[in-house]
Amino acid sequence: MKPRKLNPNVYWVGAVDWDRRLFDELIPLPDGTSYNAYLIRGSEKTALIDTVDPTKTDVLIDSLDQLDVENIDYVVANHAEQDHSGALSQMLKLYPKAKVVATPKCKNLLMDLLLIPENKIVTVEDRETLSLGDKTLEFIHAPWVHWPETMLTYLREDRMLFTCDLFGSHLATSDLYVTDEATVYEAAKRYYAEIMMPFRMVIQKNLEKIRDLQIEIIAPSHGPVYDKPEFIIEAYRDWVYAPPKNMVVLPYISMHGSTRKMVEYFVSALVERGINVKQFDLAKTDIGKLAIALVDTATIVIGSPTVLTGPHPNVVYAVYLANALRPKLKFASVIGSYGWGGRMVERITGMLSNLKVELLEPVVIRGFPKEDDFKALDRLADEILNKHKEHDLMES
Ligand code: FEO
Repeated sequence: MKPRKLNPNVYWVGAVDWDRRLFDELIPLPDGTSYNAYLIRGSEKTALIDTVDPTKTDVLIDSLDQLDVENIDYVVANHAEQDHSGALSQMLKLYPKAKVVATPKCKNLLMDLLLIPENKIVTVEDRETLSLGDKTLEFIHAPWVHWPETMLTYLREDRMLFTCDLFGSHLATSDLYVTDEATVYEAAKRYYAEIMMPFRMVIQKNLEKIRDLQIEIIAPSHGPVYDKPEFIIEAYRDWVYAPPKNMVVLPYISMHGSTRKMVEYFVSALVERGINVKQFDLAKTDIGKLAIALVDTATIVIGSPTVLTGPHPNVVYAVYLANALRPKLKFASVIGSYGWGGRMVERITGMLSNLKVELLEPVVIRGFPKEDDFKALDRLADEILNKHKEHDLMES
């Protein structure tokens, strides 16, 4: 895609990756992604904000050629991860006068990960500024969005905030700006769930840091640009600050139908009590959908059969993920079945150490569910209802 003008002398020079389906060999990308880089031409100096994934270096070079860029003075590295820094070495070869601008932590990572020579990097402190002539860059240290070295870059005269991963969305689109808000909301929430949610408490501080900035455009390094910044800032405030919702997320798997029967009964019992449910069969589900559901939910109930004395491996994966993502869950429980014994519940609850949840008494049965087992599921549904009522979650 050709360079696209955002403002006078400010251009998008990124790459859209329509076909990528996996990130970090871990995160599903059902809608592809983009790696956004931005060129800013000041009256005296030229800066490139971030680069692109190494697989798209040729696209960035082509965009810079199309804009007849003969010199770059600064390449701002808001983040050291390779999907943004991967073309840095090539930029330094093509533009030998260029210096990389980064936080001190980012400098070390760029030297370690990309072997960028130390003398090519200048470090900037929090709120330090850099003049490009008629345009001024202000650097705002914002650790843990997504790694410890990350920063945001604010272009003062244009009131544009370049946020790299923060506020991003894995979404390949021909739209420069957000046009389809519903689609972008879903993609940005998926991105938040998978990338940002583990750092929720730090993100609160970073949102406070930008509260007083006058922002007309937020330009992230994944997905479309926000020309109505309040759309994504409000979404983040909700995901980060709002209490969890009256919902049970139920990731489960069933081998011979016992756990499935329990899940079916239990979901009906919850719905009858006015509790919303999102149910995910771990043999089939997009794990990103589960992550999105975890952003808002108050309660997780994990459904598993017993395999070799423990939970099913797919359940282990999902529980590990839920624990690592640190959602704002309040309650957790386990339902499931066994044939002749095991330690399935202990293994699952032992993996939830990051979550500040109250564990509700599990329902684990031998074989196919019987009348008393359904009563136990009713008891667990009642307990969840009472907990949600106690915490004023029923209207949320
Ligand atoms: Fe888009 Fe953390 O890299």
